[in-house]
Amino acid sequence: MDYLEIVGGQKLSGSVLISGAKNAALPIIAATILSDKKVTLTNLPNVVDIRTLLSLLTMLGGEVDHSETIAHINNGSINSTKAVYEIVSQMRASILVLGPLLARFGECEVSLPGGCAIGQRPIDLHLRALEAMGAHIEIKGGYVRAEAKDGLKGAKIIFDKITVGGTENIVMAAALAHGQSTIINAAIEPEVVQLCEMIRDAGVDIQGIGTNELIIEGTCGKPLEFKTVEIIPDRIEAGTYLCAGAITNSVITLNKVNNNHIRTSIDKLESMGCSFELTDDSITILPSKTLKPVNLITTEYPGFPTDMQAQFMAVAALAEGESVIEERLFENRFMHVSELNRLGADIWLKGSVSAVKGVEKLFAADVMATDLRASSALVLAALVAEGTTNVRRIYHLDRGYDDLEGKLTKLGANICRKKESK
Ligand code: EPZ
Repeated sequence: MDYLEIVGGQKLSGSVLISGAKNAALPIIAATILSDKKVTLTNLPNVVDIRTLLSLLTMLGGEVDHSETIAHINNGSINSTKAVYEIVSQMRASILVLGPLLARFGECEVSLPGGCAIGQRPIDLHLRALEAMGAHIEIKGGYVRAEAKDGLKGAKIIFDKITVGGTENIVMAAALAHGQSTIINAAIEPEVVQLCEMIRDAGVDIQGIGTNELIIEGTCGKPLEFKTVEIIPDRIEAGTYLCAGAITNSVITLNKVNNNHIRTSIDKLESMGCSFELTDDSITILPSKTLKPVNLITTEYPGFPTDMQAQFMAVAALAEGESVIEERLFENRFMHVSELNRLGADIWLKGSVSAVKGVEKLFAADVMATDLRASSALVLAALVAEGTTNVRRIYHLDRGYDDLEGKLTKLGANICRKKESK
């Protein structure tokens, strides 16, 4: 397995290009199943999860021509509706093919995604909503077997809690359903908005895009024809690089960002003492020599994103004072705490709340990544830890960050990828 060797203490400078958003690209790739014609996706991030989902389309019989940031997809040739365990177990977001496969073909079998490091990750809300649309759902042998022989019918769906993937699955299912669907308590993350816009631009009548109530007039099973889609910038990658500037006290510029999507990260770093210069599609961080503590509660968009919690904890570890961070979305998203403490941080946990007592310095150690965002938090801490830190199990990072070590090297970090000796 690869690991990253990082020598701490380097200041960063210059600019970094933000890639397309993994969490926008995944539902959009799944949505191409709703079409039997060719569609082009651009600004795809070059990350493992994208390659995994594209390989699933190929396994189902779709045609995929993918190079770096562009994919030409034609799912007119799909001849299987079974998303096998081997793929779904690698990337739980594969469950996003459930809605579109069922809507287009009237039946499908998708492996249960299983949990992951940060939590159990149930899909009960997805399944209940599809049943409300007339699907017959059976869980057998680790697979969700779904059937709607006469097609899905429009329904009123009320989500007990806001679910990004659940909203995305049901928006895609409703697009081809017979009649009108209303989704109440829908997620409004930017990636949900872009998915809705892609489907609307294919001629589906969707009202309420960007609000918690969506009204969708289905096409009664008629496949869609999509225009080319340019994936929106990755708001979590952008927030991660802002944290890199803050923790190393460096002036860096992020290009190709959507500043409206990272307002809470900007606001919280401002409260810690940083300031910013913004243009239409770039942001420069002007860090503060000393960082004030911060209080964070993770919640759904536009609140503070759970996917930025670990990165901010790394920054808070060096603040002057005690920060309080509450994780409200996932039941086990503090796996980075013990690894940060190995680097000399002073972080305490009590249930879903962590207290982060700022320390003067961090010190290099061997640490282990446990999940995607925890890995980036460890990289951030290693950038300032005294000595050489090895961050292991970085396959987690490769799932969601496009060339992290290349981009950090370009900014001046002393970081390189190494292979574990056998
Ligand atoms: C998406 O996951 C993101 N993944 C996650 O990013 C992100 O952390 C999460 O949304 C919250 O913003 C992708 O977009 C591919 P949810 P998703 O359904 O859709 C519970 C990353 O690091 N829930 O909004 O799986 C669930 O357990 C990843 O890029 C149910 O109870 O998240 C959680 O507590 C990590 N039943 C809460 O809702 C359900 O049927 C929010 O989950 C579905 C969800």
